[in-house]
Amino acid sequence: MRNSSYVSACLLAMSLFAAGCSRTEEDARIERLLSQMTLQEKIGQMNQLSVAGLTPDMEAAVRNGAAGSILNEVNPEIINEYQRIAMEESRLGIPLLVARDIIHGFRTVFPIPLGMASTFDPELVRYGARLTAQEATASGIRWTFSPMVDVSRDARWGRIAESSGEDTYLNAVMGASMVRGYQGDCSDSTSLAACVKHFVGYGASESGRDYNSTYIPPRALRNVYLPPFEAAVKAGAMTLMTSFNDNDGVPGTGNAFLLKDVLRDEWGFDGFVVTDWASAAEMIQHGFARDGKDAASIALNSGVDMDMMSHVFTAHLEELVASGAVKEKDIDNAVRNILRIKSRLGLFDNPYVDVDRAAEVQYNDSIMDAAYRTALESAILLRNEGVLPVDISRVRRILVTGPMADAPHDQMGTWTFDGQKECTVTPLVAIREMYGDDVEVIYEPGLTYSREFSQRGIAAAVAAARKADVILAFMGEEAILSGEAHCLADITLKGDQRKMIAALAATGKPLVLTVMAGRPLVLDEESRVADAILFSFHPGTMGGPAIADLLFGKAVPSGKLPATFPAASGQVPCYYSHNNTGRPFRGTETMLYDIPREASQTSLGNTSYMLDCGFYPLYPFGYGLSYTEFGYSAPVLDRQEYSPDDVIRVTFTLTNTGRYAATEVAQLYVRDLVGSSARPVKELKGFRRISLAPGESGEYTFELPVQDLAFYGLDMTRKVEPGDFHLWVAGDSVSGEPVSFSVVAD
Ligand code: GLC
Repeated sequence: MRNSSYVSACLLAMSLFAAGCSRTEEDARIERLLSQMTLQEKIGQMNQLSVAGLTPDMEAAVRNGAAGSILNEVNPEIINEYQRIAMEESRLGIPLLVARDIIHGFRTVFPIPLGMASTFDPELVRYGARLTAQEATASGIRWTFSPMVDVSRDARWGRIAESSGEDTYLNAVMGASMVRGYQGDCSDSTSLAACVKHFVGYGASESGRDYNSTYIPPRALRNVYLPPFEAAVKAGAMTLMTSFNDNDGVPGTGNAFLLKDVLRDEWGFDGFVVTDWASAAEMIQHGFARDGKDAASIALNSGVDMDMMSHVFTAHLEELVASGAVKEKDIDNAVRNILRIKSRLGLFDNPYVDVDRAAEVQYNDSIMDAAYRTALESAILLRNEGVLPVDISRVRRILVTGPMADAPHDQMGTWTFDGQKECTVTPLVAIREMYGDDVEVIYEPGLTYSREFSQRGIAAAVAAARKADVILAFMGEEAILSGEAHCLADITLKGDQRKMIAALAATGKPLVLTVMAGRPLVLDEESRVADAILFSFHPGTMGGPAIADLLFGKAVPSGKLPATFPAASGQVPCYYSHNNTGRPFRGTETMLYDIPREASQTSLGNTSYMLDCGFYPLYPFGYGLSYTEFGYSAPVLDRQEYSPDDVIRVTFTLTNTGRYAATEVAQLYVRDLVGSSARPVKELKGFRRISLAPGESGEYTFELPVQDLAFYGLDMTRKVEPGDFHLWVAGDSVSGEPVSFSVVAD
């Protein structure tokens, strides 16, 4: 039988957070709960444990208040039991915060975040995140480790899959949309706490090798890597995760400047900070902490609130407080941050879930339709020599081939632990279901997985191709080749895929290549032999129907590249918003096989390019074709000169000059011609999706606050510098002619 102080403490905890209390009431009540907690109980709240099922040790940890959060359990009944132990058997009855990596869907898997970014449709991405939150919270999960907003400019890095690509603005817009989608308005139990990660600069891991050091100087940190995190924090993100990388020798988990000066003091973040998996203890490996005690001290004193799975807080903080190396008031602040989020999620009112709800919500029509629409909008048409869309009235026999044609697990991509492949619809299944009555569908995979070498398999596919009127080849990457720690030095198609594509092309039959992968790939050879290329960043559960509808013209591709596709692996990192350098590529330079044999030390151009692949990528950021064509008028500015507090109004006319109703992503780019530090040749500052019928025109306006042109210059203060600018409105980052304007000092 529990003693009276236990009962009073529980009643206090339960009463503290009656629904609907204001922020000040909430904080006051947290104070009262905090005053009841022992130091050990406080430290327990700062500890996150990974659990799988009910085990005596994990039950004991929860019962003893040694864990404030658990991750990786997804069974609602087991989650309810852990919550019951926390609420009824621990001394203070503080609910657990239950977490899971829900990166692009829970049960219903959406395209990987790089694919979501390809939609350039933040409202659809928000909506998908909202439905995902409903699906996940129905299992009792209330915290996801998403969105990942690491600007990624190196396709060798496996985790580019989880980002919104190479652009600061696009990562900021998509990250904020996901935060809003996951969290909703926090008015009910479908609110899923977001966790913005990985703070900061992880996407710049040197040589694209995961966990590697980054060397991001302060100005690039401010102008390129931090803004997406600031946008997510301003969107109300409840939590944030530190990054594995050391930036110039300082690990993200021990970076007080970032976690205190920037996150708390500048941005006013009032959520809590969790480490990445064991990253606190890994500061020992970094050579940044002497031992576990030192790591605990550094992490806590740098501003970390919760330790994911390194146990250094529970092992050392009590002793560190006793020695004075850590102040209890800092522990109190960490616990306040954690309790505040638990309160905002309503966990004190009711941490339990209706175990029957999961089955009702998961894979429901709304979320499956949202996954389909996201997959549809995320596919990018890279090439089409008149073969797409396939005219079903003119073909009798279709060959479906390739290792990704019927690969339900691989099609979901990385971070899809909870997606059930049985629910995934592959292109083969979709094509058979949708067109199997109209045409003969031959299926001959050729290769059974992306890394396979099989001349025999290729021969079988080629033989089948000779009987077909059109070849639909599905190539790409198995899911395991993408994601965390899965980096590639050579980003071309693996196994015998390239050989198979060449052999299929040699048949002379129309060859439509669909590529599903977790990163930009080098498709130089493929672009020479395939009549059409449709690229889909691992499209998820409904990828098959979406791709089938695009290939057969029921829908028209509208996706745009969120990351540059290099011309060669050695061109990486490559991205559109680069600086011009003092010797920019002119286009007249001598290339490798044009070098005269007698050339000795003569100049080949002395500009910034590669002898064997030139300067330009294969496909640029923002690029994507349609089945129709769009014509842009020159953008018209409402003025020629603006002051720093003005809003630039850019008007343009877009016309659908082709035969298909379609959607275009109009993009707004700006260049600051001269700055106190060199500025990129282009920066995306706006975009919008515009749908037009064949022959239809429309006039549209971007409104761009001049303050959006501010940057950290030579003196490291953020401001708009007066001067001359160029501005483009186009369908990608390389098209269109600029118009000029100036910003004049106030
Ligand atoms: C992983 C990842 C992080 C993830 C966490 C929990 O190592 O870096 O993104 O959320 O651990 O699984």
